[in-house]
Amino acid sequence: MTRAAQEFITPLTLQALSGGTVQTELFSAEQEAQAMGHIALARWADILLIAPATAHVIAKLSHGLADDLLSTLYLVAECPVYIAPAMNQAMWHKTITQENIQRLQENGVKIIGPEAGEQACGDVGLGRMSEPESICAQIFSKADPCLAGKHILITAGPTREAIDPVRYISNRSSGKMGYALANAALLAGAKQVTLISGPVNLSAALGIQVHAVESAAQMYTKVMEFVAQCDIFIAAAAVADYTPQMTEASKIKKLHAETLLTLQKTQDILAAVANLPNRPFTVGFAAETDDLERYALEKLHKKKLDLIAANWVGQAQGGFDRDENALHVYWQTGSQSFAMMPKTELAQHLIKLIAEKFNDATAPQKYPT
Ligand code: PMT
Repeated sequence: MTRAAQEFITPLTLQALSGGTVQTELFSAEQEAQAMGHIALARWADILLIAPATAHVIAKLSHGLADDLLSTLYLVAECPVYIAPAMNQAMWHKTITQENIQRLQENGVKIIGPEAGEQACGDVGLGRMSEPESICAQIFSKADPCLAGKHILITAGPTREAIDPVRYISNRSSGKMGYALANAALLAGAKQVTLISGPVNLSAALGIQVHAVESAAQMYTKVMEFVAQCDIFIAAAAVADYTPQMTEASKIKKLHAETLLTLQKTQDILAAVANLPNRPFTVGFAAETDDLERYALEKLHKKKLDLIAANWVGQAQGGFDRDENALHVYWQTGSQSFAMMPKTELAQHLIKLIAEKFNDATAPQKYPT
């Protein structure tokens, strides 16, 4: 425990709850006598997990400072190191914190979280420590390596369609579903996970290759850049169906009581991928406010998909910008439903099902032309 940690709870409390010995001092005659000084302690550990990791601890580690037991352990440790950040959302978003995180990642530290949500200080945003269960799941993942050796291409988040330099049309997608799928694909052993992401407030796990885009047109271009190399394409993004026919060069003035905006259809990325001659196994999503099954099946057939994951949106539960979701998945010869659960968990179920169907298909499904 650091000195700051001891301001929140006492070593005695942690000792009683964990049943383990709590170490607090860098130089302790007692610990040295038990051959458990800081060097021995670092060598003894199989894994070093720092949870919660404050902005201060992260800054210290990233600069190699070693002025207390925790930071010294980090410098000595040769085992895998994980940190689970926890701090106010503004602190997390500060460039200096992000630079420190990046330096640690470049040095092999694996970052778990943080999660978005309500914070102790009343703010809402990214900065909550990941739940202990989630931290353990990520460290000790026994996920079935069902995607071993595969390259997975995923789209996530909303797109923004510019009206003028300061205004755009968008939707409520947070990107949580797409990012959870990217994480789950990584946990399932994928050799490469490429995530084409619209504007979101999320950070992807180390090992996921993220390409940030803004508009539907940019998302289309990026997907086409990577699609030839991928085995499975999952379109979880909420891509705008329409975009302004023209983007004004200057801010539109409010000169009239009414104004009209002419929209034109965007290119359907999912349909374009499904129509490629050597297409990957192609998975779409359907976000519906009515008649979920009918519209999902229509999209499955019309867009010639291998699989479609349908969810209700615009309702009290699930869908956009929530941590939980439920899915009804359809393919040519069957269907499966997943009840409401955290998107992180749901993504693991969906990835497993996708891998199963991908492996079943000796070749991507052939449709009559
Ligand atoms: O991001 P979250 O807040 O976690 O919310 C998750 C989600 C609700 C956005 C996600 O689960 C979801 O349903 N994503 C698809 C949303 C959507 O745009 O659905 P759609 O029914 O309008 O589109 C059907 C499919 O076509 C989707 O796979 C979509 O990515 C794709 N599409 C649509 C339009 C377009 N121009 N190009 C596309 O590729």
